[in-house]
Amino acid sequence: MEKKKVLITGASKGLGLAISKKLSGEYTLILHASKKESFTHIEPGSHILCADFSDNEQLSDFCKQLKKEHGDTLYAVINNAGLTYDKPLNFQPEREIDAMLNVNLRAPIMICKTAMKIFGLSKSGVIINISSVVAERGNAFQSVYAAAKAGLIALSKSLAQEAAALNDTHNIRVLSVAPGYIETDMTAGLPDAVKEKYLNLIPAKRFGNVEDIADTIAFLLSDKASYINGTNIHIDGGLT
Ligand SMILES: NC(=O)c1ccc[n+]([C@@H]2O[C@H](COP(=O)([O-])OP(=O)(O)OC[C@H]3O[C@@H](n4cnc5c(N)ncnc54)[C@H](OP(=O)(O)O)[C@@H]3O)[C@@H](O)[C@H]2O)c1
Repeated sequence: MEKKKVLITGASKGLGLAISKKLSGEYTLILHASKKESFTHIEPGSHILCADFSDNEQLSDFCKQLKKEHGDTLYAVINNAGLTYDKPLNFQPEREIDAMLNVNLRAPIMICKTAMKIFGLSKSGVIINISSVVAERGNAFQSVYAAAKAGLIALSKSLAQEAAALNDTHNIRVLSVAPGYIETDMTAGLPDAVKEKYLNLIPAKRFGNVEDIADTIAFLLSDKASYINGTNIHIDGGLT
């Protein structure tokens, strides 16, 4: 039997790379990064589809290509690509604000739009948007990033309801996950004092690792998670 196809955006490193390693074998993967050169590892048999999501034209072409090349067999989308420029809003250049909104929110919205069209025809599918704990708790120096991540939670909840309203099926699920502090390039540059502060707030007394997220994503994609829909799942070691 042909394997189901899963799109993972931002699959060149960090969480996306770990998710691709975890899902490979069970699914045929469509792996995305901003450019081909970003990949240091590609799971065998995967398709590659690149685009810089801060560029609306590239994003639009990406969505068209996704529909044209994989529209008939797409099962799931993991909207994982993301970026942050941490600084006080009053010092944040407009181009950084635009990039954070485009990559973290506009791109997932446009990819969800494409996926909803595809899933409306196939009558099934799963979308998982990677949000963040800062969406609900806020975080100094991440106001725009946090706002975009909060948008993903609202997007997911709304689309879960919309899928049921528009389609004669209950096999389309849309949800978000909110990782806490996970050790990747994105968090590597944080000052030790900030890391220490976070560690003291985590009952699990450790930072998360990329497998913590990949394991949860694999479960959420499976039939065992068929009753989990329209919600935001925290993966944060109990961060208070
Ligand atoms: N790490 C954490 O603690 C944490 C916590 C909460 C939420 N998250 C979220 O989890 C997701 C993955 O984070 P991570 O820590 O794995 O980040 P990462 O290691 O920095 O990887 C980011 C990925 O996003 C892609 N990306 C960045 N800018 C892009 C752009 N302009 N266009 C297209 N793709 C772009 C990168 O592709 P290139 O390599 O081509 O640039 C890369 O594959 C993000 O959405 C992040 O906000 C992370």
